Amino acid sequence: MSSHDTPNHIAIIMDGNGRWAQQRNKKRTFGHKAGVEKTREIVEACAARGVTSLTLFAFSSENWGRPEDEVSYLMELFVLALKREVKMLNKNNVKLKFIGDVAGFNEKLQKSIKDAEKQTESNFGLELNIAANYGGRWDIVNAVNLSISEGNSKKTITESLIEKNLSTCHLPELDLMIRTGGEKRISNFLIWQAAYAELYFSDKLWPDFDSTELDYAITDYKARQRRYGKTGEQLETPDFELPDHEMLNPDGNKSNDDQVR
Ligand code: FPP
Repeated sequence: MSSHDTPNHIAIIMDGNGRWAQQRNKKRTFGHKAGVEKTREIVEACAARGVTSLTLFAFSSENWGRPEDEVSYLMELFVLALKREVKMLNKNNVKLKFIGDVAGFNEKLQKSIKDAEKQTESNFGLELNIAANYGGRWDIVNAVNLSISEGNSKKTITESLIEKNLSTCHLPELDLMIRTGGEKRISNFLIWQAAYAELYFSDKLWPDFDSTELDYAITDYKARQRRYGKTGEQLETPDFELPDHEMLNPDGNKSNDDQVR
């Protein structure tokens, strides 16, 4: 077992607003409003715990398919939240940035996004990234197209070229991805970036996910062994050297060690 520090970069799929509201015989939008309140608590908690980057999935490329009144409520809610929360962001030294295809939003929301980013741009504490009109496949395709348009069409597309053009290129590697609401899937969020992230699934609905729940996730993360494809022995023993492949595997059969992930 190995342990490490607080994650630098946490991403959260904030799921369960609608169910939270329905459990209270309220409209789904009531849950989204409660979700914003919870977002504030978690942003402040991450800033206090020394997390350097927090990326929140606020609106996916697929969320346009929701009922029209829910989509327009969410747009208005984002405008309102951005206006209202800038004070809290500045108080906590949080720098806000949106990732995703924000050009797809109406002009009012685009302006709110620009204003809020501008008003927090000189903060140097927690970097808060709101993924809006975001999809992981979109991010990868967009990065490939940017790589090509940079004049690399004749060159081979490499991993580092794609990484340089992803919407998260300004951020450290993703350490921990949390999903609330009981579902166990990534839903097209940061699919490239999550390649070696630790995943944590909480049954709590987003409006019930508080700083104590965040601490459970961080504690769980700290106890994980991040192997990046290496073996447990290599990580446990710094001077551990792997025997020659032939010694391990004289018959050329696939050894069990190759299967450690
Ligand atoms: C998922 O719950 C939540 C959303 C699609 C919207 C997320 C938005 C917020 C929490 C507001 C955050 C605001 C800012 C400005 C960052 P769901 O509706 O899918 O819940 P369900 O699975 O219970 O239906």
